[in-house]
Amino acid sequence: MSETSVRLDFFVAHAAGVTRKQAKALIRAGRVALLDGTGQPRAGKANTAVAAADRVLLDGQPLALPGHRYLMIHKPAGVVCATRDGTLPTVMDLLPGAERENLRIVGRLDRDTTGLLLLTSDGDWSHRLTAPRQRCAKRYRVTTAEPLSDSQARQLADGVVLKDNPRPTRPAGVQRLDSGGLLLSLEEGRYHQVKRMLAAVGNRVVALHREAVGAIELDPALAPGEWRQLSAAEVASVGADA
Ligand code: URA
Repeated sequence: MSETSVRLDFFVAHAAGVTRKQAKALIRAGRVALLDGTGQPRAGKANTAVAAADRVLLDGQPLALPGHRYLMIHKPAGVVCATRDGTLPTVMDLLPGAERENLRIVGRLDRDTTGLLLLTSDGDWSHRLTAPRQRCAKRYRVTTAEPLSDSQARQLADGVVLKDNPRPTRPAGVQRLDSGGLLLSLEEGRYHQVKRMLAAVGNRVVALHREAVGAIELDPALAPGEWRQLSAAEVASVGADA
């Protein structure tokens, strides 16, 4: 099944507002018709992939999927950003079953990192947040092993060279906090970037929390492990492709 196609039972469940079990029963009962782009009937079973050009009818009435889904999760420590993992709990386990399908994770966080994680079914939207040339800022609250020195703050702001890439990191926003930690704003998303940047200047991350991605801030009403749909304004804040 391609990344953009969905199973027939998923399509019927979401478009008709019924459970997957009910959708399967409707398909089995012959009440769902699947037509290809030329209007010819196709055999449709629960696991048949519905292509973009297909039409789906329930009792002769056309069904349409509701629009894309956009969610934020307050990621707790200890869960992995994966759709499936043999041993560890994943962020998908935090969502009810019907919400999980077809969702992709927008910009992964390490297992021990907490904070704002976005998920969506909209590949273009996800791309606009993650493509390097879009330079979308991510803001992290960083707790360090040692208070950040002036020299370390300057190096982080100017850019540091990480082991796997001779090109220095892009200029970053650095704000030291009275608590001893810092807020770090990055326009890139290299592998373990925050931890490696702090290590490169001779310090160490002991806790990492993402507060914002672009204009989308983690909702303070969400406890770790909780999620909500994004508002229309939050979705729209991710502008059209540059
Ligand atoms: N940088 C890191 O090192 N880890 C994260 O989870 C996110 C950014």
